[in-house]
Amino acid sequence: MAPSELRPVGLRCEYRVDPLGVGERIPRLSWTLESEERGQVQSAFRILVAASEGELEAEENLLWDSGRVESGSTIGAEYEREALRSGSQCVWKVRVWDGTNNPSPYSSPAVFEMGLLEKSDWEGVWISAGKSPAGDMEPPSGDEYDDLANGLVPSPYLRREFPLDKTVRRARLYATARGVYELSVNGTRVGEDVLAPGWTDYDRRLQYQTYDVTPLLAEGQNALGAVLGDGWFAGFVGFDPKHRGAHYGARPQLLAQLNVEYEDGTTESLATEGSWRCSTGPILYSDLLVGESYDARSEIPGWAEPGFDDSGWYGVEAEEIEDTNLVAQPDEGVRVIEELEAKAVTEPESGRYVFDLGRNIVGWVRLKVEGEAGTKVTLRHAEALDPDGTIYTENLRSARQTDTYILKGEGKEVYEPRFTFHGFRYVEVTGYPGEPHLEAVTGCVVHSATPPSGSFECSSSLVNKLQENIVWGQRGNFLSVPTDCPQRDERLGWMGDAQIFVRTASFNMDVAAFFEKWMTDVQDAQSPEGAFPDVAPLLRGSGLIDLRWGAPAWSDAGVIVPWTIYRTYDDTRIVERHYKAMVRWMEYLREANPDFIRKNRMGNNYGDWLSPKGDHTPKHLLATAYWAYDAKLMAEMAEATGRYDDASEYRDLNERIKAAFEEAYVSPDGRIEGDTQTCYLLALHMDLLPEDLRSAAAEHLVRTIEREDWHLSTGFVGVGYLCPVLTEAGYTDVAYRLLTNETYPSWGYTIKNGATTIWERWDGWTEAGFQSPNMNSFNHYSLGSVGEWLYRYVAGIDLGTPGYGHILIRPRPGGSLTHASGEYDSVRGRISSSWKIEGDWFVLEVLIPPNTAATVHVPSTDDISEGGRPVDEADGVEFLRTGEGETVLSVGSGRYEFAGRMARR
Ligand code: BGC
Repeated sequence: MAPSELRPVGLRCEYRVDPLGVGERIPRLSWTLESEERGQVQSAFRILVAASEGELEAEENLLWDSGRVESGSTIGAEYEREALRSGSQCVWKVRVWDGTNNPSPYSSPAVFEMGLLEKSDWEGVWISAGKSPAGDMEPPSGDEYDDLANGLVPSPYLRREFPLDKTVRRARLYATARGVYELSVNGTRVGEDVLAPGWTDYDRRLQYQTYDVTPLLAEGQNALGAVLGDGWFAGFVGFDPKHRGAHYGARPQLLAQLNVEYEDGTTESLATEGSWRCSTGPILYSDLLVGESYDARSEIPGWAEPGFDDSGWYGVEAEEIEDTNLVAQPDEGVRVIEELEAKAVTEPESGRYVFDLGRNIVGWVRLKVEGEAGTKVTLRHAEALDPDGTIYTENLRSARQTDTYILKGEGKEVYEPRFTFHGFRYVEVTGYPGEPHLEAVTGCVVHSATPPSGSFECSSSLVNKLQENIVWGQRGNFLSVPTDCPQRDERLGWMGDAQIFVRTASFNMDVAAFFEKWMTDVQDAQSPEGAFPDVAPLLRGSGLIDLRWGAPAWSDAGVIVPWTIYRTYDDTRIVERHYKAMVRWMEYLREANPDFIRKNRMGNNYGDWLSPKGDHTPKHLLATAYWAYDAKLMAEMAEATGRYDDASEYRDLNERIKAAFEEAYVSPDGRIEGDTQTCYLLALHMDLLPEDLRSAAAEHLVRTIEREDWHLSTGFVGVGYLCPVLTEAGYTDVAYRLLTNETYPSWGYTIKNGATTIWERWDGWTEAGFQSPNMNSFNHYSLGSVGEWLYRYVAGIDLGTPGYGHILIRPRPGGSLTHASGEYDSVRGRISSSWKIEGDWFVLEVLIPPNTAATVHVPSTDDISEGGRPVDEADGVEFLRTGEGETVLSVGSGRYEFAGRMARR
């Protein structure tokens, strides 16, 4: 047999590369395929799993040999041997057979390792700072403590030494906190996570992290050290600053366990317990919203190393784990992803230096400074400047975003906060000894480490800037949960924002694991009656938040997000996992709305939030549209998981809501009550109109745009559907016009006014100055949901079937663009679509991954060629039809270059 051209690569388990601490009892394995040849398919695969790489080679040592499985599937292969145990390490590889039954070589091996699956695996107890002999830990007094910082307490430093008397083969540290934590082993920081364990509703679920600490341990005496911060658990969260400590708990606690396996096969474990020692150190306080204060004079050299004299330290308080629900973190966690040099520094007032990082980011800065002990440097962070060049902080509301550093006076000092994050472009530095150089400040960009998966680029610098701003909006707001904004006292997992942006997000980054985690937050937050919330995780103890349930377009994220993840990643497990919750939600709505108009149980109905120019989409109409949409998506998900009766019930429900919608809101001429852009967008996108009224409704939509002098007037809800609906209805030219507008309201207007992220409001800043500081974030991703259209319609990369098994390549050139290209790493491999207009010719280069097929629409009907040959002579290209100015072709995997003569413009 000839060796196959196919090569399995990109092996992943549960969406991650070589994950440790997998919590899924039946992990799913996936790979992608590479090949230079066209039309490649996989006809079968074989997976081998063993406990180590060496054992993979000997059949008798295998944990699992799938045998040859006749299947074209490259994703979601379930590990199905005997149940995996806690800590089981699995090395695996895969080979495939191509369409003519030729085998590929085996892939390079990949690894996955199970986490602690049973409650009984946890041996430790929660520990927290005990009482110091000098009395309770008091916040040091000082002028840096304003009303908010008052009441914040120093971060506890915790340590414990232990001997290891044999050579270690493998060691894993499992850890979590109520609060946030940073661990070290023998003085070396463990892992790269920051702000671990991330945010969940801690009353329902707490994530633990798993670290390989084998190289950090030594035979002999060892030391474990931990620093804790308040984080989401005990600190200020949301717009409720009075409630510090009132949401989940009052003070941070640590739970950690070191599992050691020696070379001789024996094991030992060491967990947090009552004999740990505790002290305070340089972190005077730390809080996500307030900031961090650090006194370097109180640093404790060597505290996390063995041999440190901790006789001056005191004890810890211990508490049983009891019913804490500990779960493995399924996504990549939060990290410092990138560093940015400052672009400029000014001194608008004497001694007040303002550093400009050149773009609005989320994270913190690293400060370099040299000076006398006791000198206090204050760093205040802001998104914008006032006209006099000082920082504008009013829009932060009660969030302080202020870090202070007190020098120890020992030469060059470097400081980075650990337990806070800020949304900012500018950093005001005061108290700096001497005049700071530009290098005194470096921006550290912090977010969930969702792997980049797509890029988009075209001939318009404005549109490229828009794409860049969308990505930076996503980067700033995907921090453990999808937040609305990263700077003011809010930073909540608002559901409406998430649902409108999830598809765009999935192009820019691989967000499968991120949303898998967040959907559990959503389910945890469902009300006992079945209502999905407005924000997830639920912010306990906050009256304001607890009241919010069921808002149209917000709570519907409970259905839309799983559906989007299922479609994008061909993942039915997320549907299975949340199916019951979704059914309960559907029943909750159904019971209360017998007329099929959603007018009851609407919670906080935000309507088309922040639509400009007072464009009011009737709220019942918006609510009813979303209900019908939920029913439609439920039918698809029921079908995809084999629940055929449910599917037909939901189709039926969808029909009834549609009928009620039409009767209540739609005139025979296609006009829809409210007559706003969003009314038409909802009806067209959600398929709520009889076929014969669709084009009339689309004409009305265009009329409402013309009425605004060819501008949009959509808020958070309508904006995501705007360009896709226009394009589908044959108004691509109008979509391009909106895309490239530079006058208010438009994306271009924000860019002309210096936006480097997506603004919360179309008029965040105008010639009249800033919008109301009560609600004016410069980093909110919702209005960036046009990103989906750039990939799907401008570049032309779209889903045919879930997970891009069948791909649709259909670029829609328009406006003044002369080229556009998109690249997207789908679950089935890299797809790209790149077009240019060259003289009379439209040239389209396409890459289709092995084992998938595509329908390609070339927007031309004349002289169509591929690789310089007429298409009917081209290898692997099948002509399907022409019509509506397009030639439609079918191709298998591979690289293609199509060309066609453009109609004279
Ligand atoms: C948030 C939004 C959110 C909205 C609900 C705002 O305060 O910033 O993004 O969706 O409230 O209407």
